[in-house]
Amino acid sequence: MNLKQIEFNKIYNMNCIKGMTLIPDNKIDLIITDPPFAINFKASKANYNRTASRVIEGYNEIKPEEYYDFTFQWMSESFRILKESGSMYVFSGWNNLKDILMALDDVGFTTINHLIWKYQFGVVTAKKFVTSHYHCLYVCKNGKKRKFFPYTRFKKNSKTTEGRSLHYKDKEDVWSIKREYWTGDQKTPTKLPAELIKKILEYSSEKNDVILDPFLGSGQVAVISKMLGRKFLGYEIVKEYYKFAKKRLDRNVYRLKEKSTRKLKMKH
Ligand SMILES: C[S@@+](CC[C@H](N)C(=O)[O-])C[C@H]1O[C@@H](n2cnc3c(N)ncnc32)[C@H](O)[C@@H]1O
Repeated sequence: MNLKQIEFNKIYNMNCIKGMTLIPDNKIDLIITDPPFAINFKASKANYNRTASRVIEGYNEIKPEEYYDFTFQWMSESFRILKESGSMYVFSGWNNLKDILMALDDVGFTTINHLIWKYQFGVVTAKKFVTSHYHCLYVCKNGKKRKFFPYTRFKKNSKTTEGRSLHYKDKEDVWSIKREYWTGDQKTPTKLPAELIKKILEYSSEKNDVILDPFLGSGQVAVISKMLGRKFLGYEIVKEYYKFAKKRLDRNVYRLKEKSTRKLKMKH
């Protein structure tokens, strides 16, 4: 691999902080990412009703005391390589939210929205409330040049059967989107649903834009970007996850089955 030059429509098995240093300034249109959590996450644990044997092991975790520095480093590189018109969406649980918020400010990003992704179930806990949401920080490099496409999903006057504005509903900052169960298929321990990524891509990018995910995991961001005619780029430090994401991209397959495969098509 020639590490002097990073190409688009490729993913790389490497540390994203190193990988991003190989990208020249102002090259990326949109970053969508879900960084590691620093909560001692165990990939092989049979949580969320999953069969542990199909979950690929090896998740790379960051120590809590190193989380701010790590976050500041990858965000500084992200800021440098984003175009002036570019935006970034960063997912975070509540545990590390303060480090994420501080680093975004310290690096110089402008915050546009603090979105909540509400999913359909959480881990049931006896003595506290069930966490059933994720935070998503929508930020940009230059508030005056930021791209946003408000009517690609719903026309200004489109209404529900009850006469409510579909456009308004879709633009509220709490997004209820179901997690995907990939029962019986290979998977990594965490993944963002396709619908969530599609929504971000439709509001904040156009065809042929370059979409980066520094922390690919299963490769969801790259796979959905490819499906929607965007250019993709991404990094994953764990070899097995990288191989899994690459296989999905090379074969144009959304879910990898043991024998048969499902072609890259989504119902929306
Ligand atoms: C929360 S997961 C991402 C899940 C992904 N959004 C998906 O839908 O599958 C974070 C990923 O970042 C990877 N990772 C951790 N540190 C990294 C680094 N320095 N460079 C690249 N990848 C890293 C982990 O191995 C893990 O797969």
